[in-house]
Amino acid sequence: MTSQPNSTAARDIAYHMHSQTNLRAHETRGPLVMARGDGVHVIDDAGNRYLEGMSGLWCTALGFSERRLAEAAARQLDRLPYYHTFYGRSAEITVDLAETLVGLAPVPMSKAFFVTSGSEANETMIKLAWYYHAARGKPGKYKVIARARAFHGITIVAGSLTGLPVLHRDFRLPLPGFLHARCPHAYREAAPDETLEAFADRLAAELDATIQAEGPDTVAAFIAEPVQGAGGIVVPPASYFPKIQEVLRRHDVLALADEVICGFGRTGRWFGSETLGYRPAMMSMGKALTAGYLPMAAVLIDEDVYRTVADNSARIGVFGHGFTHSGNPTCAAVALEAIAIYREGELVPRAARLGMLLHDRLAGLRDHPLVGEVRGIGLLVGVELVADKATRRAFDPALRVGAYADDRALAHGLVVRALGNTLALCPPLVIEEQHVDQIVERLTRAIDDTEAWVEREGLRQAPPAA
Ligand SMILES: Cc1ncc(COP(=O)(O)O)c(C=O)c1O
Repeated sequence: MTSQPNSTAARDIAYHMHSQTNLRAHETRGPLVMARGDGVHVIDDAGNRYLEGMSGLWCTALGFSERRLAEAAARQLDRLPYYHTFYGRSAEITVDLAETLVGLAPVPMSKAFFVTSGSEANETMIKLAWYYHAARGKPGKYKVIARARAFHGITIVAGSLTGLPVLHRDFRLPLPGFLHARCPHAYREAAPDETLEAFADRLAAELDATIQAEGPDTVAAFIAEPVQGAGGIVVPPASYFPKIQEVLRRHDVLALADEVICGFGRTGRWFGSETLGYRPAMMSMGKALTAGYLPMAAVLIDEDVYRTVADNSARIGVFGHGFTHSGNPTCAAVALEAIAIYREGELVPRAARLGMLLHDRLAGLRDHPLVGEVRGIGLLVGVELVADKATRRAFDPALRVGAYADDRALAHGLVVRALGNTLALCPPLVIEEQHVDQIVERLTRAIDDTEAWVEREGLRQAPPAA
């Protein structure tokens, strides 16, 4: 890619280090610079317009030009732009948000604790789980079980929960005491003749065996995204969470939900835990909490955990946790306004309805020679590209087949995200029926282009035997 010496692209390469990017490849390839948003579209600095099929990073549920969010932020910036929550300080808008979130929770929750990012929210849940067990005289209960292909963030503890090896490599992660159970993805993990019910039974039995092997007195918590996002849009079998939950209850292991993607309507209910029948003791949320307009995340905490933690803070003299921006009033104002818009527009049932339509219209892709599985729920979709449809053989990741399809989708005016060889979609909840059609049409063209390239380059051949 060539660019003018003082262009945004050139300065990006000169001064800006990117997240989750091949940094050397970026130096030649350069950035894709977005100049502005318009409803469910974004427009780059060359004037190309894209339907944002990923809501940025699973964030902008209300699209990119919701004036009410800008106005809510402006009002709060005028009144009280910043305050904090250390040593009992508060702001009315932050209290309003805490009360609203506790009221929205799908299971009885007692308190909301605010942070800035999903990683901090998950990190907070683990610290609370450790503090909780220590307060109950069980300080040896410290291990945490997450799942393979989970994404729970990228800080040291959240990164340890994450079950994607490429994000651990050379970072000395995961920390000791962080384990990963099998991913509940039937297409990849179930035996050929195993029913979903039998697969769920096996996953619960494996979890039980892991806890027994580690020693139930050493296991503090289990954490799960109701639908795994960055691991490839994995919806577990319907009976998975109830079965897992029973194992956790038996071993006094806290059930934690990561709702950072699933929260606020994405799966067709307010929270993915509700959709998938999970009853967590704590749940983290972020992203669509503010529709992505300002950084804020939160943890909801049930009464049992809260009571134990509060008693312990009285013994120690302080609950020694919290951040400069915990409960930032401007972020809280935007979150409250976003929730008001979700409610007034009935966007949660709308996501269920449009999600069904989207899945219906994508069903035709199941017959495509390159497509192994089309999966998801609500407005969350994964389309897995495979080298061999009959055997489900995956492409070698080094071929970057998903990345090629991602580029082709961009060329056709659609933002998707390649998660390895799975193309993910997570469009704004405010898409219209016409956008559903556009998504399907552009994605199909991108997959057709990819199929032609795969054929041209002979990429289907099985790798040589080692
Ligand atoms: C399910 C899930 N949890 C946690 C996170 C981490 O959130 P953040 O990047 O705000 O730290 C993400 C981010 O994509 C996520 O998808």
